[in-house]
Amino acid sequence: MKYVFGIDLGTSAVKVLLMNQYGEISIEKSKPYPLIQEKSGYNEQDPEQWFLKTQEAITEITSEFEGDIQDIEGISFSGQMHGLVLLDENRHVLRNAILWNDTRTTEQCKRIYDVVGNKRLLDITKNPALEGFTLPKLLWVQENEPRIFGKADLFLLPKDYLRYRMTGQIHMDYSDAAGTLLLNVGEKEWSKEICELFQINPDLCPSLVESHACVGTITPDFAVKTGLSESTKVFAGGADNASGAIGSGILADGRTLCSIGTSGVILSYEKKSDRDFKGKVHYFNHGAENAFYTMGVTLAAGFSLSWFKDVFAEHETFEEMLEGIDEVPVGANGLLFTPYLVGERTPHADAQIRASFIGMDAAHNKKDFVRAVVEGITFSLHESVVIFRESGKSIDSIISIGGGAKNETWLQIQADIFNANIVKLSSEQGPGMGAAMLAAYGCGWFESLKECSDRLIQPAKTYKPIQENVEKYQKLFELYKRVYSQTQDLNERLKMFRK
Ligand code: XUL
Repeated sequence: MKYVFGIDLGTSAVKVLLMNQYGEISIEKSKPYPLIQEKSGYNEQDPEQWFLKTQEAITEITSEFEGDIQDIEGISFSGQMHGLVLLDENRHVLRNAILWNDTRTTEQCKRIYDVVGNKRLLDITKNPALEGFTLPKLLWVQENEPRIFGKADLFLLPKDYLRYRMTGQIHMDYSDAAGTLLLNVGEKEWSKEICELFQINPDLCPSLVESHACVGTITPDFAVKTGLSESTKVFAGGADNASGAIGSGILADGRTLCSIGTSGVILSYEKKSDRDFKGKVHYFNHGAENAFYTMGVTLAAGFSLSWFKDVFAEHETFEEMLEGIDEVPVGANGLLFTPYLVGERTPHADAQIRASFIGMDAAHNKKDFVRAVVEGITFSLHESVVIFRESGKSIDSIISIGGGAKNETWLQIQADIFNANIVKLSSEQGPGMGAAMLAAYGCGWFESLKECSDRLIQPAKTYKPIQENVEKYQKLFELYKRVYSQTQDLNERLKMFRK
């Protein structure tokens, strides 16, 4: 039996999967690491932690593994997107990584629009300037930490740094490069024009490869530390959303994904790079060669629920906290939640907006609040479904993965709010599975990623919309949408009181 590793470098933890040739997960380990939040809107991580925790997880897996270590043929990655890792000429990390959910860069986004212009930016990158993307972070360091910027010799994204530490090789794949705002997404090359406009040396950008490309083998040192064979091949891997799409079979036109991790996305496959969504949704290169995907993002999806748990249900597990929400009626007894805990992306690109509970009543109990949070996250994702439908896409069926697929009631709420069939997969490992599939395809186990997914990914259950609930949610959605505009100014004024 042969095996590959899929490494999912997430925001809260790294998850490492050992997958066999039949797509079964033989061993799985997860290792958390902290977020560093110095101020409201700041989110950083220490890249060393990513490496140490991954090494620890792999070492534990190899020591439990009962087969022949030579049969572990390959490793690939899924990575949290956009995070800026700056290295000096000796390949040392210059500062903490600034992550995708860090929103300190509103001024830099304005500068990007002023210098490049909205239309030209969309022509080149296919995306708007959002605080979470990498170029604004690079400009923030250029403006605020010029000494560090002066020493920068290279920038990488999180999983590329991890791969560098495991192989000594420097690369970035197209699906992750697409989220930097420095890539010409259609042409699949770094934009010299954008680099020049911001005095960014193009040599700062790493060489580009496909997600399934073999970029080398692990270093002898990493082999000794983890017990892996030195001949273990390493494949580039992809952005977490591209990898989640691969791991759920979103590899053909008409397929749509709802993925709820720390952030949540509605993602739809695109064959070409030339559809015009006017920057309303993200438009990135897929991890599958010469394909693309469009995506709307809710910044605090799973994060809203874990925030609620940390603050109000510290001693409960997620399962305990969600128990009984099926007994709360649609609309949480008149309680609405907007999940803008860290600002929002789609459809409101607004780093200052904050979350609300609207309609709190003395009769509400904790279960009403939990149901309202779940519904609010789903309403926010529904705003992306609406954008896709308005652009002419027909979305009748959505594959659901991540936190939202772990709870039966939430799956039914998705069916009712999206008014679409919601498909749960039999083995649902999302981005980690996509990473393992990239390694399996790279190792030559399958002719194509599509063949790999057709063989390994199976639907388990479909949740159909219940008409009565659909109608109630349609009414509530109209109210939900009004909360943004009615709280925008209040949140702008509250900004000065935040930490
Ligand atoms: C996508 C985004 C998030 C991160 C989460 O643009 O910022 O979904 O990829 O890791």
